Amino acid sequence: MRKIRLGVLGSGSGSNYQALHDAIRCGELDAEIVMVMSDIPQARILERAHAQGIPHAVIDCGGFASKFPLSAQQHVAQTMLDAGADLICLAGFMRLIKRPLLDAFPQRLINIHPSLLPAFPGLEAWKQALDAGVAETGCTVHHVDEGMDTGPIILQEKVPVLPGDDAHSLHQRIQQTEHRLYPRAVDLLRDQMLG
Ligand code: GRF
Repeated sequence: MRKIRLGVLGSGSGSNYQALHDAIRCGELDAEIVMVMSDIPQARILERAHAQGIPHAVIDCGGFASKFPLSAQQHVAQTMLDAGADLICLAGFMRLIKRPLLDAFPQRLINIHPSLLPAFPGLEAWKQALDAGVAETGCTVHHVDEGMDTGPIILQEKVPVLPGDDAHSLHQRIQQTEHRLYPRAVDLLRDQMLG
């Protein structure tokens, strides 16, 4: 079976992108990252890709703070297709994906979210979990559809909420779990898509 080719979209630190990169480098994940794109020119995820010699590009969203304009989605779809991406991994990408990007990668666009979906979709899910007083939360890798964190679930892992947790400590514990879960989910899809 050949390597699965990944495109990654992120707006921030890119620690999940780094986890995918590390899993590939240490031989846990038979994949290749062919393109990293960000809507934030100064995002750390782009710095990481640059330092690692991974092709990367900025997405021009025309100055809109949260909208993902049609032309920008077309640009991302074309860039990812040109790079030969099999699967697009959202890694902290802060804009809602719509058509035509979804149509260009049907069932081939996934996201990682810091809760046990369908609980706590949307922003700062770890704070939502703390506010709700739950004893456990977690993280979810899911297919992307037009909703906010609503697509079919691929893998989930639980994370306990410990006495004394604040938003920072809980988010950190969830992220450590995310960094194991995302490469596992990509590996699972690789078997399904290329096997
Ligand atoms: C992660 O917590 C992920 O669940 C959410 O955004 C965050 C991205 O973090 N979708 P990073 O940029 O991968 O460090």
